[in-house]
Amino acid sequence: MGKSYPTVSVEYQNAIEKCKKKLRALIYDKHCAPLMLRLGWHSAGTYDVKTKTGGPFGTMKLKDELAHGANNGLDIAVRLLEPIKEQFPTISYADFYQLAGVIAVEVTGGPEVPFHPGREDKAEPPKEGRLPNATKGSDHLREVFVSQMGLNDRDIVALSGGHTLGRCHKERSGFEGAWTNNPLIFDNSYFTELLSGEKEGLIQLPTDKALLSDPVFRPLVDKYAADEDAFFADYADAHMKLSELGFAEA
Ligand code: HEM
Repeated sequence: MGKSYPTVSVEYQNAIEKCKKKLRALIYDKHCAPLMLRLGWHSAGTYDVKTKTGGPFGTMKLKDELAHGANNGLDIAVRLLEPIKEQFPTISYADFYQLAGVIAVEVTGGPEVPFHPGREDKAEPPKEGRLPNATKGSDHLREVFVSQMGLNDRDIVALSGGHTLGRCHKERSGFEGAWTNNPLIFDNSYFTELLSGEKEGLIQLPTDKALLSDPVFRPLVDKYAADEDAFFADYADAHMKLSELGFAEA
């Protein structure tokens, strides 16, 4: 399954490069990398491979989608980003939100996720209810990531490592607490913490713990905890796939 990326103009590519710098500065200044990663992920993770609807196409700016229960708090991300977006009117929201997610990983010390521009904005927000439910287990993760989004088991474990950044907010999701002691650093501590068991002050969601009990997921957790380079390589690959769901399909 090869991708055939659209060709964008030199002006567009230059705007993307300038925009990256503005995003780095904003994310650094506002300490908002976790929220920006969640924005990119929740934008893309609604993709449904069967109907080819949803996905990373800029619809998160719409009130309808921001009102989905899973997106509580993402209105803050959209608002923080708007002054930068205004400086780059030619860049699509679709590219812009995915770029914000990629830069969030970069500036917190994570891998460089390859970014290909050229997504076009869609008018229709996805149906509500496509993002994963944190109270469920492995079967549910596979329904969402594999059957709906078209990703694979390895992508599930690698992308779950995104919880190396940020925390749960009671008023947004009903959960409270960070996964690691350094929630603004992108490293493999999500996996080492997961293996070391529950601790006072840190959180493990049921969907995080499901990675420990599943026979396919568990060896990957062990591998990523032992080898950060392996995690970064698989994460970069999975994040790029996530950010390109429904985009540039051959
Ligand atoms: C595997 C299924 C997943 C579930 C059930 C899940 C669930 C959640 C929940 C409940 C929160 C707390 C939201 C809040 O209260 O602010 C959260 C936060 C977060 N999620 Fe996930 N998530 C999943 C996958 C992912 C993936 C794939 C990524 C990115 C690659 C990701 C990145 C984040 C980040 C960075 C935050 C922190 C946001 C902040 O600090 O404001 N999550 N997730």
